[in-house]
Amino acid sequence: MPASWTSGNQNGVDLHIDPSRRSATDLAAALRAAVRDGRLITGAALPSTRALGADLGIARGTVTAAYSQLAAEGYLVVRHGAPTRVADVQQLPQARLAPATHTSSGPTAGWTFTHNLLPGLPDVSAFPRDAWAASIRRALATAPHDTFGYPDRLGHPALRRALAAYLGRARGVLADPEHVVVGPGFTAMIALWARAVRSYGVTAVTVEDPFLPHLHRAVETAGIDVTGAPVDHDGVQVAAITTRGAVLTPAHQYPLGHTLAPTRRAALARRAAAHDMQILEDDYDGEFRFDRRPVGALQALAPDHITYGGTASKALAPGLRLAWMVVPQRLLPHIRDHAAAAGMPVPVIDQLALADILDTGAYDKQVRRMRGRYRARRDALVEAVAPLGYDPDGIAAGLHLLLPLGAGGEPAAAAAAKRHRLGIDLLGRHSITLPHPDGLLVGFGAPTDHAYPAALDALVAVLRAL
Ligand SMILES: Cc1ncc(COP(=O)(O)O)c(C=O)c1O
Repeated sequence: MPASWTSGNQNGVDLHIDPSRRSATDLAAALRAAVRDGRLITGAALPSTRALGADLGIARGTVTAAYSQLAAEGYLVVRHGAPTRVADVQQLPQARLAPATHTSSGPTAGWTFTHNLLPGLPDVSAFPRDAWAASIRRALATAPHDTFGYPDRLGHPALRRALAAYLGRARGVLADPEHVVVGPGFTAMIALWARAVRSYGVTAVTVEDPFLPHLHRAVETAGIDVTGAPVDHDGVQVAAITTRGAVLTPAHQYPLGHTLAPTRRAALARRAAAHDMQILEDDYDGEFRFDRRPVGALQALAPDHITYGGTASKALAPGLRLAWMVVPQRLLPHIRDHAAAAGMPVPVIDQLALADILDTGAYDKQVRRMRGRYRARRDALVEAVAPLGYDPDGIAAGLHLLLPLGAGGEPAAAAAAKRHRLGIDLLGRHSITLPHPDGLLVGFGAPTDHAYPAALDALVAVLRAL
């Protein structure tokens, strides 16, 4: 016999709940169907979890779990101290709703999660579809016929020009279009750089310790010895870099979140010139600094020795697989030699669309829009964890932060995150050779605005469990 929910709302809503099936999943399915059918309309206030639990004769926690699930999917808006409401989903094509669950081959391998606080991911629901579509249309309408022939392996000249102008203006990069190369994501670019410096004669590379494991493996795959250098609050310890090659994240160390101090930047530039070094600067989220103007690229201090690397994955979307490097003159022939093996060039229409979105200012507009949004999300995260005694480390920037945990905290955090269906990352797996204190890497980019409060609730529940 179906049960009805009529409490707290002028229009009684029949949720069609079979009394023998009263799990959070069942309740979520019933509410989802009610929203889809229009029985629950946009803006409608749902009863409190306590009231609905009592109405239906189920535990309050079951209702909370169902609400969280639907908030993560974009059906409900959960706000602290206000009623949960139906989101404006009728306007959205089904394809734009966030998937119900996520699985990952990365840090959360083996667990399915609803709340996505994995670090380094942008909010892909904010991808500027209209601007991108307009850029694609303009590219198709204006490209001469020969655009569709075999393209330059290092990138279309129009995109190389647009990137040179943008990077000079926004990141202080010394960029000649001839030195700009475009490829299918930064992960492919670092593998290409490693092959190129190997043939230039660099056999050993230092990476920051901690760093992203898949990026350091990409360097090793080129037949290069990789060692780690310690990082402190002033960024990487430059004195510990004794190899001719290095991969660094000076603007926002990944994952600790510090910026490289001015004296160390200068020391590194001097050392690079003195030892004919080749350094790759990974500027993965340099546009997103919240407390001040972003520091300029390190590359400008030693452009013959530093390759600047960037990606469209944070400001636009990782699915585009578009990234770029600005390469020193002496490395360019080696880059050209290995470009085909790195999967270059990328499809020309995508390149022309990126050139257009940069040239028309739509890219800057998107960065400004998302900077404000990510800043607000970081503030909300800091505020949510403060009462539990957590004080994030690192500068106010990017799409993630680090919450230091007590000794042995990582296994407990992983177990609690799995229970609360939360995707997060752990500092420990970023170790190259040095041990690191336990820490939780929390991203605030990935969820939709609708889903973010519920994701924060899940994080707070995980931290409470520790
Ligand atoms: C530190 C760092 N570098 C580079 C990248 C890779 O960017 P892409 O998506 O272009 O491969 C990421 C992505 O998360 C990152 O966190």
